[in-house]
Amino acid sequence: MKLTVVGGGSTYTPELIDGFARLRDTLPIEELVLVDPAAERLELVGGLARRIFARQGHDGRIVTTHDLDAGVDGADAVLLQLRVGGQAAREQDETWPLECGCVGQETTGAGGLAKALRTVPVVLDIAERVRRANPRAWIIDFTNPVGIVTRALLQAGHRAVGLCNVAIGFQRRFANLLGVAPADVHLGHVGLNHLTWETAVRLGGPEGENVLPGLLAEHGDAICDDVRLPRPLVDRLGVVPSYYLRYYYAHDEVVGELRTKPSRASEVAAMERELLRMYGDPALDEKPALLARRGGAFYSEAAVDLAAALLGGGGSPYQVVNTLNKGTLPFLPDDAVIEVQAAVGPHGPAPLPVPDLDPVLAGLVANVTAYEELALHAALRGGRDRVFRALLAHPLIGQYAYADTLTDQLVAHNREHLAWA
Ligand code: G6P
Ligand code: MN
Repeated sequence: MKLTVVGGGSTYTPELIDGFARLRDTLPIEELVLVDPAAERLELVGGLARRIFARQGHDGRIVTTHDLDAGVDGADAVLLQLRVGGQAAREQDETWPLECGCVGQETTGAGGLAKALRTVPVVLDIAERVRRANPRAWIIDFTNPVGIVTRALLQAGHRAVGLCNVAIGFQRRFANLLGVAPADVHLGHVGLNHLTWETAVRLGGPEGENVLPGLLAEHGDAICDDVRLPRPLVDRLGVVPSYYLRYYYAHDEVVGELRTKPSRASEVAAMERELLRMYGDPALDEKPALLARRGGAFYSEAAVDLAAALLGGGGSPYQVVNTLNKGTLPFLPDDAVIEVQAAVGPHGPAPLPVPDLDPVLAGLVANVTAYEELALHAALRGGRDRVFRALLAHPLIGQYAYADTLTDQLVAHNREHLAWA
């Protein structure tokens, strides 16, 4: 089996390698290719990757290359984990929206739109080249904003599945609180990428007993601390929002905080410098603890599980993925991309039925879906007016004066990445 990671020079890669090494019975890889244009980074990450495989007795070959076409040739699955413009572009996304009193975040609000505009054309070009090399290859997309990027890929007819670690994070956390194995925890997880709620926590499988009420009664404070939302709000909702809902339910509070502290991009950039320094140490042969301070905890587990299921090598039968709605949420278009629990196998994901959604959740999901559709139009066709329409439709923006100013800012800060600007 051959797997290729595009953006393989990411500091996250050792996390993935560690997962591939530990879970090699689920996913027996013969060749793992790390593709990245940043040669120096790639060598540091590739060196550590080989040492992790060696230490864990994995005999798969690790190849590093800047040549995308050679890298994806013959691959059974291609993982996309790239960041167009690097942390510097992210820093911008997190900063200029604040001037309008809007959240500055890499996937939510105006910053997320900027990221989508930079990213969609690049990802589509890569996907085309993957398809040319092997039309049967699966594309697993971690590249943010995952909802919009996955919608772009599926609309272009690619064999793609979008992945995020929020659900697996909840699964592990709840399993821990309940004292059961993660595989026994089945989430009622619903919404869009980075806009999800846990509406049930079932034991044993999708039909198992829902223990969420008891879990909230016993561990509500700890869970609310994790998602950084107040307990009375979560109790009134009766479901557990992911921490990305904080950008909606506590928008102004978050803006106030963001204005007074260094950006997440600058924190991550500092961590990355330190990580790369560590990766260069020939004595290091495991993923360093510092990596756990990144947001992507358990992402390797989720990726290995998904790749194994798609490639027919086992993996969990039900996984939370980003895929086409196709009637699952009846109030959304069929071609919207939703993030839900799905049965996953070699034919791809098939969403499980979702119970009727509380209008409090459904309203926001419908609104953000419309934004994502407009965001994708803007990413594919460009133009100031399309950017404006997406921003006007976003529930965290909405007012024309903000949408106008943010459009100007977005274009000014991203000109080098936008072919039309
Ligand atoms: C979570 C999200 C990812 C996001 C990451 C950011 O894992 O699910 O989509 O990329 O957080 O983490 P960072 O350490 O870069 O802030
Ligand atoms: Mn994510």
